Amino acid sequence: MRRIPSLAPAVLLAAAILVSGPGAQEPAAGLRAAHDGLALTPPMGWYPWNMFGEEPQSEALIKEIADALVASGMREAGYAYVGPDEGICFSRGADGRLTPNFARYPSGLRGLGDYIHGLGLKYALYTDAGTRTCSTAMPGTRDHEFDDMRAFADWRADYIKIDWCNTEGQDIVRSYAALDEAQRAAGRPVVHSLCSWGEGSPWLWAARVGHLWRTTADICAPGKADWPRALRMVSANERLAAYAGPGRWNDPDMMIVGMPGPSDAQNRSLFSLWCMMAAPLIAGNDVRTMTPETAAILTNPEAIAIDQDPLGRQGRILRTDGNVSIWGGKPLFDGSQAVLAFNQGRYPADARIAWKDLGLDPGTACYARNLWTHRTQGPLTGGLSVGVAPDDVVFLRIAPADAFPLPPILSADSYRIALRAESRSPRTLTGSIKVTNGGSAELPFWTVGGGLPRWLSVRVVKDGQSQVFVNTVATAGLKKGLYHALVRADNVEPVSGLPMTSLYYDVDLEVVRDVGR
Ligand code: GLA
Repeated sequence: MRRIPSLAPAVLLAAAILVSGPGAQEPAAGLRAAHDGLALTPPMGWYPWNMFGEEPQSEALIKEIADALVASGMREAGYAYVGPDEGICFSRGADGRLTPNFARYPSGLRGLGDYIHGLGLKYALYTDAGTRTCSTAMPGTRDHEFDDMRAFADWRADYIKIDWCNTEGQDIVRSYAALDEAQRAAGRPVVHSLCSWGEGSPWLWAARVGHLWRTTADICAPGKADWPRALRMVSANERLAAYAGPGRWNDPDMMIVGMPGPSDAQNRSLFSLWCMMAAPLIAGNDVRTMTPETAAILTNPEAIAIDQDPLGRQGRILRTDGNVSIWGGKPLFDGSQAVLAFNQGRYPADARIAWKDLGLDPGTACYARNLWTHRTQGPLTGGLSVGVAPDDVVFLRIAPADAFPLPPILSADSYRIALRAESRSPRTLTGSIKVTNGGSAELPFWTVGGGLPRWLSVRVVKDGQSQVFVNTVATAGLKKGLYHALVRADNVEPVSGLPMTSLYYDVDLEVVRDVGR
């Protein structure tokens, strides 16, 4: 039986409008992210659809991609979520329950999740709110919301992209709210990425039931990057700047950066535009074989810092000067601001960035940091003129002082600890997870949430730029069986004092025989 959430769509809508709009910096009460602490900066990761479509997706491909995210430095740069899209990864059995496709995913979907977590990456999966997914290859969640969200939780998903195909007759707000309710009932906090391509204006209501929502049609057909089409995504997404903020993101789709087709200048421009729009940075290229130029673009820490800024403001076009658009409206956590000049013309163009366009007094002395050349100019008063090559950008950070701190960018060596207790006599076992901050300020200690099972305690210790979560398991009195805990830790960004995205990891304990006291 399909459960209908008690809150009427109109109520959801009105409440969401109240918490939307420019200015808000913390996830307002009632937002999904206020409960689970997830996606307080735009999610970063990799999804297969843009490059591969459905057919070649398999466990082997996803594992190779995950390995490449680590080897290429993308994990350290902040890319965390990875997993299959529409890759025929499950079907529905006669009992109505989802079963992994073991032919394509021989370790099962839990096995793939464990592999990804073991690499210090987070596990992303895909489904649909209707009866079937878009290619009709896989079953959708309609009428199975609770069982399916339970299955995704059992597979240890951290992120689910939820498509909107084959939904005839469904109310969009109720459908996604039902999935939110089912996810909460399943007990595993998971990022919900809504994929209705702007249908149903999700920016008006979806922050209560998810964390990000597609605002546009697909950016490309699989394998066919399309520059003019990508720019149409930018125009549609730009208009929605007022609705973005921590825990609620407009999603102009996975990136085409590094796919066959676009030039390096176009890749740089697209990446800068995604960062300026505080868009989710979900790479869609083949990271196993990408060029050094593509890797350098996707991992540029100074550009990523704009996307991952804790204030979470989405930039917008301030004015257009011929073929050059000047983007601003993106104040940053340290009092600086980001500015972008983008040349859509066929010839080089000059553009003026005036302090008054940025809300600054023309007499203010400021420094301008170029986020692609990594050079700083200044002090300057009034503004500066820049030359912009065709299809290219000049991406700047402007501040009164010559200091451009990077916000926290986290990476971990693992998101899973697996321990095995073999002895009948009580023992203590330990396992650690190291979390490194790629930002420039030292983080306060992580606070581990309550509600840990009595067999587990967690201590956090410093190790240079990293903090290590030391997990101690006491086996005394435990019966034979499998035990699991999901640990949540919270922190604040030290410069702005704003809450950071919560950190979650799994602890698994196998007790081989009953243990005495
Ligand atoms: C829709 C989505 C795409 C992709 C495909 C899979 O088109 O928008 O991103 O997930 O479905 O069929």
